[in-house]
Amino acid sequence: MQANAPIGVIDSGVGGLTVAKEIMRLLPHEKLIYIGDNARCPYGPRPQAEVRKYTWQMARALMGKNIKLLVIACNTATAATLDSLQKQLPIPVIGVIFPGARAAMKASHDSQIAVLGTEGTVKSGAYEHALKSLKSSCQITQLACPKFVPLVESDEYEGEFARNMVRETLAPLKAEAFDTVILGCTHYPLLQRFIEKEVGPSVTVLSSAAETAKDVENHLRFQHMLAETGHKPVHKFYTSGSMAIFRSIIEKWLAIEHPDVRQIKFL
Ligand code: DGL
Repeated sequence: MQANAPIGVIDSGVGGLTVAKEIMRLLPHEKLIYIGDNARCPYGPRPQAEVRKYTWQMARALMGKNIKLLVIACNTATAATLDSLQKQLPIPVIGVIFPGARAAMKASHDSQIAVLGTEGTVKSGAYEHALKSLKSSCQITQLACPKFVPLVESDEYEGEFARNMVRETLAPLKAEAFDTVILGCTHYPLLQRFIEKEVGPSVTVLSSAAETAKDVENHLRFQHMLAETGHKPVHKFYTSGSMAIFRSIIEKWLAIEHPDVRQIKFL
């Protein structure tokens, strides 16, 4: 495997771009190949076996492009598939749940943590497991927010409608005590300012993106696999859904002009 090989990044849709952005910021010489399975998004309400099948399809497609490391930039897919991918692929595989749990534990003063995620992630108990492995006495509140992903995927995450949706969804948190919120879905950072408004200024709201990027750097450094080139890489973005929406979101979020966007089909 070559140090200049690309890093693969996968998500059910555009959410993983929030993780890709942090990897690009931290490792500007690394080339990324991203797959968003927008045609089958959301993964959150699907049974784990189905999520596992779809995630494996994306991972196989990227293995065919000779990636040196795979980032599962989706909490739902991490919860369902991290173990099997780590066991069976010959390259390092990094998920977003443990980095998210670690970031929250560092930020929290009283170890009372709220996790917002998809139905699949919440049901899996993966955050509970990760947080308890870091501190067994921590208090965890979990809330599934199934309406958030469709808002982000349809590029409607900025207006009054989105704000009201966030307010309604987070209402059950009013009765809970916590000082830190984990955005346990990679789509949710796009709604962060509305979420922050709801939980108030005394609560830290964080995602796993920056911490995941640090994990990627550590893995590559440790294995002497950091890219050796000084050139600015040209990233590739594949979608199973609409190329036009995907392209406009990449241009807006990642500030890349004329991104290399391609179609990918899964059967
Ligand atoms: N971005 C995803 C996550 O982190 C998936 C959301 C979905 O497809 O439901 O969980």
